[in-house]
Amino acid sequence: MAAPILHTIAEISAETARARELGMNVAFIPTMGALHEGHAALIRAAGRPSSFVVVSIFVNPMQFGPTEDFTRYPRTLEADRAVCAAAGANAIFAPAVEEMYPENAVAFVDVAKLGDTLCGPRRPGHFRGVCTVVLKLFNIVQPDVAYFGAKDYQQARIIQQMVRDLNVPVRVQVEPTVREADGLALSSRNRYLSADERAAAPAIYRALQATKSRASAGEKDVSALETALHADLSAIPGARIDYASIVDAETLQPLPRLDRPAVAAVAVFLGTTRLIDNVIF
Ligand code: PAJ
Repeated sequence: MAAPILHTIAEISAETARARELGMNVAFIPTMGALHEGHAALIRAAGRPSSFVVVSIFVNPMQFGPTEDFTRYPRTLEADRAVCAAAGANAIFAPAVEEMYPENAVAFVDVAKLGDTLCGPRRPGHFRGVCTVVLKLFNIVQPDVAYFGAKDYQQARIIQQMVRDLNVPVRVQVEPTVREADGLALSSRNRYLSADERAAAPAIYRALQATKSRASAGEKDVSALETALHADLSAIPGARIDYASIVDAETLQPLPRLDRPAVAAVAVFLGTTRLIDNVIF
């Protein structure tokens, strides 16, 4: 059944209030649209414990830098509606920018430390924009549980920390990264890739897997692992490394040796398209 698309805060609030009155749990998947199988997997996971499933579709201007792709970010609402329906969503919240950011709004949410590594310094203000919109959406939808993808590992960690530190009454569930058959992590930005860039892109995940293999084979020295990872990524035709780091999986801070859970996280430009990926070990 096609899920209704609601554009105002009043409409979505009424819809979720009705679901709660019927005794249903509300599950929520925040997205920026241009939905693909990665998003669909989150929607299906949310529906499994028979919840009322809300998907938001909002290209959030606050999380884009001045030179980033806000204006050209794909907007595909009709196709998104079909993905939501097929995956079992019950309602879609697709507000206009003015509905989410009335004039003179000046409050925001910042998560220190976790936002200062990896993507943080390369995208100033990005995680502030993400946290602010996600907290606003949580307050509007008031879900019991919200689903995020491990593909954006740092984002998921930051949201978990925000929820914990600010006592936000939402359970955060992180689901595995969905990939193409050749290993490329699904992303709304993959459609920007030229044929040559698309052909080169799966090597990013292969480099991450090679890192994991070296660690499993006994290499515990993080700088040696990072050097090898950089070499593998540099060998990808047309690739420019934004960063490639192995950090503590919990704090996202550097660690000298692999003596606790860690994540290898990379951001790589292929042409003008910036792709991110990670593996946990
Ligand atoms: P967006 O990039 O649309 O992603 C929405 C959710 O889908 C995020 O939790 C993201 O991690 C997840 N996702 C994307 N690609 C995935 C993949 N290949 N496998 C599994 N999950 C995947 O992330 C955002 O939007 C925004 O920052 C948002 C949280 C909505 C705030 O504006």
